[in-house]
Amino acid sequence: MILAIETSCDDTAACLYDGERVVAHMVYRQPVHASVGGVIPEWASREHEVKLPAAVQAVLRQADLSWENLQGVAAAQGPGLIGSLLIGSTFARALSAAWNIPFIGVHHLEAHVASLELNEQPLHYPIIVLVATGGHTHLYRVLHPLHMELLGRTTDDAVGEAFDKVAASLGLPYPGGPEIERLALEGDPLKLSFPFPQTQKPWDFSFSGLKTAFLYARQRYPTISIEDLCASWQHSVSNYLIHKLLRAAEAFQIKRIGLVGGVAANQYLRQALQSQAEGYELYLSPPEYCMDNAAMIAVAAWHRYINGLYSPLTETPFSR
Ligand code: KG4
Ligand code: ZN
Repeated sequence: MILAIETSCDDTAACLYDGERVVAHMVYRQPVHASVGGVIPEWASREHEVKLPAAVQAVLRQADLSWENLQGVAAAQGPGLIGSLLIGSTFARALSAAWNIPFIGVHHLEAHVASLELNEQPLHYPIIVLVATGGHTHLYRVLHPLHMELLGRTTDDAVGEAFDKVAASLGLPYPGGPEIERLALEGDPLKLSFPFPQTQKPWDFSFSGLKTAFLYARQRYPTISIEDLCASWQHSVSNYLIHKLLRAAEAFQIKRIGLVGGVAANQYLRQALQSQAEGYELYLSPPEYCMDNAAMIAVAAWHRYINGLYSPLTETPFSR
């Protein structure tokens, strides 16, 4: 049984995992950032400091276990907000020292990929995985849970960040992705077309142009409803992500694809991918494990734990 902690950004999460199933987990999604359109790092750290000890106590209580039942403690080491990471990582390393059990530092994006193992359907390798979050848009060729090759990444905004900025421009709360998705439900996805951005490298992404195109479209077509604009924008962004993912799978001749990260919670994107992925074995993170959570940290940590890949207590978090 291991305890896993996630505090990379603005979600405070803890999980107990026994190598086969999530025994207990909880996520506290900090509400303080909603009204300011993005995460305030200082506020996030202060919230983690208050909520993390309670989250750890809560999962132990949920599972009716005590620290004596634990064989390891894991935490996200980065990338993320350094103040936020320091709270979770230092807390985990302190527990490891106090309880005399191994500490396992986890890469946050490796953990998002590992969330694919939280499906009923067993995960096979190799697989091309798109990590679509608020901070990253990374395309990986994953050969093994501990062996990921980065094929490409966004050269400017992350896709989730683009959702958040478009939502903020409409005066909607943070996180913006679910807000855009909600408005888009009432709109026509084919009302307007936003062209795919060009990048120099084939597996890179760019979202700042798509974000600006939304702002221009709003001014240029005042008669088009916000719902139609959101639906059309979400449609173009989804197709852009799917296009890159499928082309990469084709180029590397891998018949298995995956989508993870907060943006993978988007139902329109999930359905569009499902309908275009014919001939591929498709894996999607379970909806409850798309946004930041500690279950994915636990699964990634488990692979390290069973291979004896413990981290020294001197290992400190990294922001990028
Ligand atoms: O993975 P995550 O929780 O945190 C990071 O590692 O960044 O992702 C958060 C991002 C935010 O930008 C949020 O707007 C986006 O995921 N997101 C969505 C949806 N739910 C969350 N984007 C589009 N549609 C959604 N339903
Ligand atoms: Zn994340």
